[in-house]
Amino acid sequence: MRILVTGGAGYIGSISTRLLVDAGHEVVVLDSLERGHRNAVDSRATLVVAPLGDIEILDSILPGMDAVLHCAGYIDVAESQRDPELYYRKNLAEPSRMLDRMTLHGVGNLVFSSTAAVYGQPETMPITEDALRQPINAYGASKLAFERMIELTESVGLIRAVRLRYFNVAGAWPDGSLGEAHPVETHIVPRLLKAATGFGASFSLFGTDYPTRDGTCVRDYIHVVDLAEAHRAALEYLHAGDAGTVCNLGSGKGYTNREVVDACRAVTGSDIAVDTGPRRAGDPAMLIASNERARKVLGWRPERDLHTMVGDAWRWHTLHPEGHAAPVT
Ligand SMILES: NC(=O)c1ccc[n+]([C@@H]2O[C@H](COP(=O)([O-])OP(=O)(O)OC[C@H]3O[C@@H](n4cnc5c(N)ncnc54)[C@H](O)[C@@H]3O)[C@@H](O)[C@H]2O)c1
Repeated sequence: MRILVTGGAGYIGSISTRLLVDAGHEVVVLDSLERGHRNAVDSRATLVVAPLGDIEILDSILPGMDAVLHCAGYIDVAESQRDPELYYRKNLAEPSRMLDRMTLHGVGNLVFSSTAAVYGQPETMPITEDALRQPINAYGASKLAFERMIELTESVGLIRAVRLRYFNVAGAWPDGSLGEAHPVETHIVPRLLKAATGFGASFSLFGTDYPTRDGTCVRDYIHVVDLAEAHRAALEYLHAGDAGTVCNLGSGKGYTNREVVDACRAVTGSDIAVDTGPRRAGDPAMLIASNERARKVLGWRPERDLHTMVGDAWRWHTLHPEGHAAPVT
């Protein structure tokens, strides 16, 4: 297949690009590099540096594409609360322009990087795809708004899409050559590992009085390579002519924040210092995915456990303590 990967210079997009080219697909990456890294893009892919909403560029690269894997977006929840307009622009308005040009050029297959944040604070665990979508922050709301745009476009037969709702993504390419390098890091595993390398800020656990086995929040973690495998499965599913769908991507297992701290300490051999603080507003006690639909519909299953995620991420952080400063391919 000939696939356009948006956001292919970011964490998830760069690892998905490499997995897709390894599988024999032809990949064009569209990324403005506003939050990504030129060096993260596999040298076998073509990189086009432009914003998603650039119609001239879209009109030059979309004809002849079999599918779009849309990973580009803004992902910082706290930033989204400070500046919701920015998040609606980056996660809805610009992608909607791309969707419009896709339909114009007859590119009918779309895989979308959505998020568990569209659910908000569901009470029933594990979370199935039919759970109410009630996001509690502007990030989740902007991703849900684009899901709705996709649903509308699908309903008139212009595209078929697989919307993939990721839970907590962690890990790196197994040899440590590609990994997570967000300009502002908010995710627990890289924050802990950066604290262990001495390149990150000190680490705080928010809330130790949740009704969970050790009082800290429970989250579902998925290895980024398992996620990339799910992208490949979703693209091949659409290519085979199957109907659009929506799937959660998680392991179906929950780990407490303290268990993640322990895993990071075990892998690094470092007694990473951890402070405790009060709960943060809007953090639910538990978020665990049901991944039954992805298993059944896409024939996918997660293969890598938390220990592997942390081990692979640690290899990335020790080899690249300052991120993508040097080429990796
Ligand atoms: N990382 C996670 O744990 C996680 C969890 C759930 C969902 N997601 C979703 O996965 C996607 C990728 O996340 P990530 O962690 O790889 O993020 P990232 O910030 O590492 O990568 C995003 C990439 O998109 C590019 N980009 C952003 N806006 C753009 C625009 N308007 N035009 C062109 N390029 C643009 C950035 O330059 C960057 O390279 C996001 O859409 C996010 O909502 C991520």
